[in-house]
Amino acid sequence: MNNNNIYIETYGCQMNLADTEIVMGILKNYGYQITKELELADVVLLNTCSVRENAEQRIYGRLGNFKKLKSSKPNLIVGILGCMAERLKKDLIEEKKIVDVVVGPDEYRRLPEFIDMAFTGDKGIGVKLSRTETYDDITPYREDGLQAWISVMRGCDKFCTYCVVPFTRGRERSRAINSIVEEVKGLSQRGFREVTLLGQNVNSYNDSGNDFSDLLAACADVDPMLRIRFTTSHPQDLSDKLLYTIAANQNICKYIHLPVQSGSNRILKLMNRTYTIEHYMEIIDKAKSIIPGVSFSTDVIAGFPTETYEDHLMTLEVMRNVRYDGAYMFKYSPREGTKAFKMEDDIAEESKIKRLTEIIDLQQRISYEINQALIGTEETVLVEGFSKKSEKFMSGRTDSNKVAVFPCSESIKEGSYIKVKINRATSGTLFGDVISTSLPSEKDLYKTA
Ligand code: SAH
Ligand code: SF4
Ligand code: F3S
Repeated sequence: MNNNNIYIETYGCQMNLADTEIVMGILKNYGYQITKELELADVVLLNTCSVRENAEQRIYGRLGNFKKLKSSKPNLIVGILGCMAERLKKDLIEEKKIVDVVVGPDEYRRLPEFIDMAFTGDKGIGVKLSRTETYDDITPYREDGLQAWISVMRGCDKFCTYCVVPFTRGRERSRAINSIVEEVKGLSQRGFREVTLLGQNVNSYNDSGNDFSDLLAACADVDPMLRIRFTTSHPQDLSDKLLYTIAANQNICKYIHLPVQSGSNRILKLMNRTYTIEHYMEIIDKAKSIIPGVSFSTDVIAGFPTETYEDHLMTLEVMRNVRYDGAYMFKYSPREGTKAFKMEDDIAEESKIKRLTEIIDLQQRISYEINQALIGTEETVLVEGFSKKSEKFMSGRTDSNKVAVFPCSESIKEGSYIKVKINRATSGTLFGDVISTSLPSEKDLYKTA
């Protein structure tokens, strides 16, 4: 046991945010205190991301800041966790002298031990990947709030040719359904109102015969007032059963993040995405027919090796056909160790930028149009608190994860569901008036007019 203070910063995806809560749980059990003040820290940890070159550059920049801190506080321990730790291993310590601890995503149980090693002057390195670790029995450290993440599986077996994740997070494995449901119950009792189930590819969840639909339904059953979200779905494994489960449970959000990556079958094949655009569109159409009002978001990569302008136009075409609510849009970034790294990164930087800009502009326009069409409709909003811009307004999120802003009033409580009639919209935000602050019954919760 000890009384040292730990400060931790998190980069990358939601899985990393969830992992940070697991790490904090492990460290608190060992007696550490968590601090939000860098100046008070005895140990500084960065939970890192390797997915694109610029993600790693940010971490190097941050390490530069810590160098100054360490020169004024020589006993400070600096640790790198997460995907970059796993990818670069001891090279990180050899290259960056200020790094004392390097621990990958499957070795967090031993983190206290590695930090102890650093306190005695050694370096602590733990980068073994595991086929079984799911941190099932670790209670993540979460502050009270409305929204929580739960990793329901770890790793990825898809090996998209551009992606480091299978290398940084290892093989796919699922956490036990019972322990997930118990965690959801605990969150509901603590007053949480929304849980997001996380995995690189949740549709291949499998725990002794229970598939992802079974897990979703079991989580939805815990508390009808608790919204359930999930991410990410790989198109290859998305079943009809999942679509029917979403449709049948009013508290499962009618929103599917279904990354398409490219609109060209030739590029999809080079990416090893294992579906064609025709198949992808079939899933979208099926989802629309089974789940009334469903919306989608996506990930898109611009400038994958050999991508022609025609390939790029096909990506724009898919975006126009699906009409995503939102998209995460990236320039291709070659990652060492992946299959695509061996292909020539032959798309000039300015072409990548131009294509990405076209993709972003199109998505902005579509998001704007989708939101404009919501003017006059009534949306169920989970109230999150005061709006970022003004204390006269509050904000919350709709079922399809859109931010809605409405005038503040005494009767509106954080964590409650209200109905908002939309009267104005931008590409990113809906604005409206509150028409009901107490929803008549759970059944009415998600109905929109
Ligand atoms: N498992 C999820 C998320 C993976 S990482 C999925 O399959 O969707 C999130 C996104 O980053 C990916 O969907 C992809 O669009 C993007 N990405 C991954 N590797 C990349 C690379 N090397 N260059 C650019 N974008 C990349
Ligand atoms: Fe990466 Fe593909 Fe796995 Fe997603 S599904 S994490 S993009 S390898
Ligand atoms: Fe980044 Fe690792 Fe997530 S590479 S996107 S933190 S899985």
